[in-house]
Amino acid sequence: MVLICPPVLKRTTTMTFPLMKAGFLFLIFCTTSSAEMRWLALLRQSSVATRGAVHERVEICNIKELSKKQSKICQKNLEIMNSVRLGAELAIQECQWQFKSRRWNCSTGGKRIFGKILKTATREAAFVHSITAAAVAHVVTRACSSGQLQRCGCDRTVRVKPSQGFEWSGCSDNIAFGTAFSKSFVDARDLRRARKKSKPRALMNLHNNEAGRKVLEYNMKLECKCHGVSGSCELRTCWRAMPAFREVGIILKEKFNGATEVKPIVSGKYTKLEPVNIRFKHHTDTDLVYLRPSPNFCELDEKTGSLGTHGRRCNKTSRAIDGCELLCCSRGYISQNRSERERCRCKFHWCCYVECQSCVRTVEINTCN
Ligand SMILES: *[C@@H]1O[C@H](CO)[C@@H](O)[C@H](O)[C@H]1NC(C)=O
Ligand SMILES: *[C@@H]1O[C@H](CO)[C@@H](O)[C@H](O)[C@H]1NC(C)=O
Ligand SMILES: *[C@@H]1O[C@H](CO)[C@@H](O)[C@H](O)[C@H]1NC(C)=O
Repeated sequence: MVLICPPVLKRTTTMTFPLMKAGFLFLIFCTTSSAEMRWLALLRQSSVATRGAVHERVEICNIKELSKKQSKICQKNLEIMNSVRLGAELAIQECQWQFKSRRWNCSTGGKRIFGKILKTATREAAFVHSITAAAVAHVVTRACSSGQLQRCGCDRTVRVKPSQGFEWSGCSDNIAFGTAFSKSFVDARDLRRARKKSKPRALMNLHNNEAGRKVLEYNMKLECKCHGVSGSCELRTCWRAMPAFREVGIILKEKFNGATEVKPIVSGKYTKLEPVNIRFKHHTDTDLVYLRPSPNFCELDEKTGSLGTHGRRCNKTSRAIDGCELLCCSRGYISQNRSERERCRCKFHWCCYVECQSCVRTVEINTCN
């Protein structure tokens, strides 16, 4: 069947289409680039159940937001799908923490999980893709190590490498499994788009997904535990462990700040993304790339998904992006003194309770006009 996608259909649309010759009605499912990361709709499923009849659990693999390939992976790896969902949640949490005092604050909700922000190939979209791919790899890997999954366990191959003054514990984080799973599931739709048409946006997504996973991989650490009489450390056992996800978030946020604007360059059958400004250093495999400049996010804009900064809390004394001047886009701000009640002068009583007094504290709250 030929998939025809009339350019006027900007949204995902199911429509019936008369096929001239046969006179049949065909159901045509049409997706355009506005459908980035549709699989995040998994977050809307009440839970990716780990119990219950298999046929019930498989239901979640049939939601229309999964591509054919993703649906297949889901069915074959049902026990992992809860980690995928938790990975998406972790990504959103980390994104909101990293961007809490910026104009775009990674807000979610509405019909699309990230609003319309993923529609345009901006550095914000680049960040969302990288942190999501990394978070899925992180949570799946964690689930492997903790023995929750049948499909994978600890990485026991690490012990083959020579050790220096310690023994391998035999339970290193199985980052290879986690990243491979993230790659096959998260990248599925873009991989297909990139193969078929070398769409620049698909190439951008694939690069940024991989950058997120590489940041995770390159920051694996050696963790050790001492054994012996009262911690004398006569024997040390060590394993390779993933960094805390906060660390991944911090690094990717730096990558966001230094992201490279790229443009597609076609050479023969292939399309590559090359820096717009050739005087800049070429991006590495952990750098984020984007194709379009970001809006300034000052005002509400339906088209870009910008919510604007009216009513946001800002910091009067900061000159950085969280400061009232920049965050409020020079519109000014309102200061209010609010009294907040809090527990104070707490005393510990032997044994065992804590008694506190209640104090009223005045806090100054500044909000953007
Ligand atoms: C983000 O900003 C919007 C409006 O600018 C606000 O409504 C929302 O509460 C903020 N979200 C977070 C998580 O701070
Ligand atoms: C506001 O900004 C100043 C200067 O950057 C900083 O020292 C202070 O901790 C900030 N206040 C809050 C509430 O974040
Ligand atoms: C809030 O209180 C501080 C001192 O506690 C004062 O300097 C400031 O002017 C007050 N602001 C408003 C808006 O009342």
